[in-house]
Amino acid sequence: MRVAVISSEAVPYSKTGGLGDVAGALPKALKQIGIDSLLITPCYWQTKGEYLWHTAIDDLWLTWRGKSVRAKAFYSEANGSSTFLVDSPPLFHRDSIYGYTEDYERFAFFNHAAIELLKRIGHAPDVVHLNDWHCGFAAVELAARRRYDPFFRDTRTVFSIHNMAYQGGFGLGELPALGFTSGFARNAFSFDGYGSAMKAGLEVSDTLSTVSRRYGYEIQTPEFGQGLDWLTRQRANRLIGITNGVDYEEWNPATDKELPAHFSIDDMAGKLECKRALLDRFHLPQELDRPIFASVTRLTGQKGVELIRQGAGDILAAGGFFIALGSGEKDSEQFLQALRDYAPSRVGVYIGYNESLAHLIEAGADMFLMPSKFEPCGLNQMYSLRYGTVPIVRATGGLDDTVENWDAVSGRGNGFKFGPYRSDKLLEKIYEARFAYEDKEAWVTIQRNGMSVDNSWENAARNYVELYKWTLA
Ligand code: ADP
Ligand code: GLC
Repeated sequence: MRVAVISSEAVPYSKTGGLGDVAGALPKALKQIGIDSLLITPCYWQTKGEYLWHTAIDDLWLTWRGKSVRAKAFYSEANGSSTFLVDSPPLFHRDSIYGYTEDYERFAFFNHAAIELLKRIGHAPDVVHLNDWHCGFAAVELAARRRYDPFFRDTRTVFSIHNMAYQGGFGLGELPALGFTSGFARNAFSFDGYGSAMKAGLEVSDTLSTVSRRYGYEIQTPEFGQGLDWLTRQRANRLIGITNGVDYEEWNPATDKELPAHFSIDDMAGKLECKRALLDRFHLPQELDRPIFASVTRLTGQKGVELIRQGAGDILAAGGFFIALGSGEKDSEQFLQALRDYAPSRVGVYIGYNESLAHLIEAGADMFLMPSKFEPCGLNQMYSLRYGTVPIVRATGGLDDTVENWDAVSGRGNGFKFGPYRSDKLLEKIYEARFAYEDKEAWVTIQRNGMSVDNSWENAARNYVELYKWTLA
């Protein structure tokens, strides 16, 4: 079976969040279980030059906005699978990966280029695996091409939802300029008088998946469906949930290149060294018995930052350190900076994006906070489990599927989990965790329960293969 994964970001070429981790790891995991996989992703200004030494194609001519445009594609195997990086400097060599009013146009172009690239390579994929709204354009183009282009006649599409909150909206009047002139395309994109790339992907792809079982149900409800729950309900018999995996070559405390010391379930000594290094990194006192509560996140409403803001003072009152790495909404950034200024010997804050620091925090912290309002899957709680850092999460989406609440009587559980989206509920769990931390025997059990969970990509990749077979059936 031949599978082409298309994604707007993929590690190690680009990353703003979990989509990058997933799209980087899945093609490699597929290859490892014998699937002929290929990744197509944009080449950004942020993509490191070391991955771009091999130009595979430098004359990919496309018709775009009525003109003939030339794009280039680099070839790399840096993520362990064959990757083509579509290069179009005016669209992708910018200060940030997303956030422009014409994002819809940038990714519509990328989709169109990816499809032309597949043709140029000359070997039609059985399945094109599309990810999030950025690939809704390819879903429509492939559905249409299947009817008139023999090359894609037998190609089927899988559309994965990583986050319903981002839908790639634009004015319907733009459609002809993006190359979509048919009534079929207009119907697919139309949503409440606008164009929605997410809606089109959901409507026309052969099958749908999302990144946890629970989120698969949640998006069929008005609370989580972001206005599209009617469509996910309508297509529920073509939708499944597959929980993301963890790339343990990147996220493994026994081998992690970013850590000053290594550790594993059998030898935890290195974790204390990482804690020392983490405290040092933030100029915090070496009070090793004091637990570190940490957070690494995009600072957006999704991530429950308002609950963290309400709970931060109590973490300090409970005798903990609080360390946060993140960027996003300005008022949350300002809040974190103000908290650090208020308690500089207890709080460490880094505003920005820092991959290496994210690894050190996972390793050196004791508890990891993820009180998300909604969370399609979430990767940090799974990294935390492997690093012996106990997750404190809200029971939503993938957080609910991957974290089991600690029960002191049975000795089962690997984290702390609360239900209602309320700060007092988060506080209860913060205090429970604080209490359990004092009982060294209980704490080691919680850590070991988490460290022994297997969230490797192999399982997830096998589930995707089943999905691809189902799509082709
Ligand atoms: P989402 O994709 O919604 O942001 P996930 O938990 O799936 O949430 O994935 C987030 C990924 O991005 C993780 O790999 C996490 O370590 C990383 N990340 C988020 N914010 C930062 C940051 N400020 N610096 C470094 N890595 C970050
Ligand atoms: C999205 C979701 C996150 C998920 C990631 C990868 O960014 O917000 O929960 O883990 O995609 O699927």
